[in-house]
Amino acid sequence: MPNSLNNLFEKNREWAAKVKEEDPAFFSTLSKQQNPEYLWIGCADSRVPANQIVDLLPGEVFVHRNIANVVVHTDLNCLSVIQYAVDVLKVKHIMVVGHYNCGGIKAAMGSEDHGMIDNWLGHIKDVYRLNKSEVDAIEDEHSRFDRMCELNVMEQVSNVCQSSIVKNAWRNNQELHVHGWCYSLENGHIKDLEVTVSNAEQSLNRLNTCKI
Ligand code: CO
Repeated sequence: MPNSLNNLFEKNREWAAKVKEEDPAFFSTLSKQQNPEYLWIGCADSRVPANQIVDLLPGEVFVHRNIANVVVHTDLNCLSVIQYAVDVLKVKHIMVVGHYNCGGIKAAMGSEDHGMIDNWLGHIKDVYRLNKSEVDAIEDEHSRFDRMCELNVMEQVSNVCQSSIVKNAWRNNQELHVHGWCYSLENGHIKDLEVTVSNAEQSLNRLNTCKI
């Protein structure tokens, strides 16, 4: 059977050869261990690739991506990634990275039927409901979506902080910072939403003062 994906294998071999030429020990070193300092929780959107955006090499960032970068308290997939990253890899930073113009956010704010995915997007509808007065007060539709992308990131930062994994890490005095970022597809820049949480006290304060 002809392999219609031959071009990808060709690209792969070219890439591997180029990397090895620049650093002959690259693959042999990396195959023995990974030591990332960061866990990136981002959107599955093909335009938001974690390593490329922050210019990190393989081995430098542990990654979990799903539609609209949602952290659900009962999502074993996401929780397992967080646990491995925090308990085993001992990452120092978790960044929840949303992006403006996110299709998942737009879909969640409409009333159209998208099938099964609407159950996933329900988590974002909750964020909208909790912030309805602020979001609805924004007249420009584009700005309204952008603000929802930010509010969704903030909510997911709270969810990361509320996970038993992160709470235990802080209880054990492990260094761990949880950040909220939003990426612009238009200029490639990341905006820090300045909601970083670095210990249990800050997390509690945030819960008490935050609308969401
Ligand atoms: Co998206």
